[in-house]
Amino acid sequence: MTLSPAWLDELRARTLLSALIGKSTKLQRAGREWKACCPFHNEKTPSFTINDDKGFYHCFGCGAHGDAIRWMTDQRGLPFMDAVKELAQAAGMEVPAQDPRAREKAERASTLHDVMAQAEAWFVEQLGRAEGAHARAYLKKRGISEALARRFRIGFSPDTRTGLRSALKEAGDDKLVECGLLIRPEEGGRESYDRFRGRLMIPIRDARGRTIAFGGRILGEGEPKYLNSPETVLFDKGRTLFNLDLAAAASRKANRVIVVEGYMDVIALAGAGIEEAVAPLGTALTEGQLERLWRMDTQPILCFDGDNAGQKAAVRAIGRALPFLSPGRTLRFLTLPGGQDPDDVIRSGGRAAMEGLLETPEPLVDRLWRHEEAALPLDTPEARAGLKQRLVEHSRAIADRDVSSQYFNAFRERIDERFAPQRRDRQSYGGTGSFRPKKVQDRRGRWVDAPTPPHAATKSFQQAGAVGAAEAHMLLLGLLAIPDVIRLNAEPLSRLQFNDAKLDGVRDALVQAAYHGETLEGEGLATILQRVGAIDLLSTKGRANRLAFSRKHGDAQIERARRDLGEMIDTMVRRSELDARLAETTIGFGRTMDEKGWEEQQHLLLERHETERRLSELREQAEF
Ligand code: UTP
Ligand code: MN
Repeated sequence: MTLSPAWLDELRARTLLSALIGKSTKLQRAGREWKACCPFHNEKTPSFTINDDKGFYHCFGCGAHGDAIRWMTDQRGLPFMDAVKELAQAAGMEVPAQDPRAREKAERASTLHDVMAQAEAWFVEQLGRAEGAHARAYLKKRGISEALARRFRIGFSPDTRTGLRSALKEAGDDKLVECGLLIRPEEGGRESYDRFRGRLMIPIRDARGRTIAFGGRILGEGEPKYLNSPETVLFDKGRTLFNLDLAAAASRKANRVIVVEGYMDVIALAGAGIEEAVAPLGTALTEGQLERLWRMDTQPILCFDGDNAGQKAAVRAIGRALPFLSPGRTLRFLTLPGGQDPDDVIRSGGRAAMEGLLETPEPLVDRLWRHEEAALPLDTPEARAGLKQRLVEHSRAIADRDVSSQYFNAFRERIDERFAPQRRDRQSYGGTGSFRPKKVQDRRGRWVDAPTPPHAATKSFQQAGAVGAAEAHMLLLGLLAIPDVIRLNAEPLSRLQFNDAKLDGVRDALVQAAYHGETLEGEGLATILQRVGAIDLLSTKGRANRLAFSRKHGDAQIERARRDLGEMIDTMVRRSELDARLAETTIGFGRTMDEKGWEEQQHLLLERHETERRLSELREQAEF
């Protein structure tokens, strides 16, 4: 099916995003946008915004971002085409017909899907029969319960040459060969025979949960350990991941996605309740797979075996990922101790052991540094220059210029650190146990320079909760120019504290008047201001501005100014809340000096920075 960009644009334009999201999420007006507590991550204060004009949602907390279609695929978990169809129906649009060739291909694929489903059912059936006893015992030995085997639709292929072939006779040899289930010998005359014989059959499903291939594990020892389906019309190895369908749904809840090496690792993790794990299919991670992973989470955790092969795979994945790193796309790494794989960890220590390890994944920058630093001896100037060169090349491989220069700086710092032995205090960076890292992760998972912790600044933060006089003045002038904003925002307005007692009084009077339904227009406003001795606000610059405002501006601009004022108030409230929390954590942190308190403070600082930025933006564009 081909949907033209123009058709998709039309679909987006006809879909009111806030109404769509509002069906399942409680929204609040925020200026010209809407806001809500983010449906993609847990939070108490809203950082999820919806912009109907642009047709996009964005979460400043977790970075979730997208349009109406993306909402349907990511939040509702629908496949792309289903999302499009549902939106089109709601928008009264007809989904364009497929072109004949695409239809033919889709039809053929759909019959192949049927064949795969039949094969899967047959393998499952064999597992339950007498011939499957050996396979059932094997599952038991590996700690895979019947329920878990059912969840992954695990089956068994008996050790015969034509078991499947005769069971699926109706499909015909051609289809079975096309599905990769039969092998047709090169020289003519000889019969086709079953590819999978005497193996535990693990279905590989696509994103929609349809079985498109199998991984067949030998029972016990033997070669090859896993026999996989060849690539077919249905199965493109480099574009799929084992357990993609179940993990995509689970990753939304868990807020993470884990990549492991093997089928059995994924199954063992799922058995222990960690359902957001996927595995590549016996090959190195491809760009297509990275792309898939990043759609699930901005920072997938690669948990490869601690052995050489596993670590090589991790470094190869870094090489693949570097060009695509961006502020919202990175990788994290977990190296398992003692040559174990995740399956071993679960078997020996259960979920708790695995969760413990997952708590402190290594950022990509650290993993890469560790790899390069250990790669060769560094006992000569040439060797050290070589290390530097390799690191510079890695930084250059990153296409995003900002991220690239951040890597460059990070590596330079580390090299300086590493080769300056006379330095008094060896500080370690990032990672665990390092008190005061120089980089911190912001809410979007980006690693940014750590803001300076304000030990001594506690007091000033407490005071900073109030709105400064100049800002307050500006806000009041805005309210006087468009008085109905007072009524619309009376509640948040009343929570604001100004630094200036007189302006506070004006604000209180205005809010009170709005509550009591007094008229705020024209003379009514003058009366109220007179009452609190602030008539000068109207008579001087305020009046001039106000008159100019109503004369010069059309309805659209007044509407815009109204929304901006609303958002300005909300943002000021948000800032004072952040200040209060900052004051609290700063005091707490001063007492305990622990890493957690420090991290929390960093997050608050970053968020406060963001509100300040937004406020100055609003101030700049304000014209009342
Ligand atoms: P491993 O040998 O690490 O598999 O290969 P594993 O999951 O630990 O296997 P168990 O625990 O011994 O059963 C990792 C992955 O590499 C692919 C498979 O995808 C496997 O899950 N592989 C491995 C093959 O495709 N063929 C092989 O012969 C071996
Ligand atoms: Mn294993």
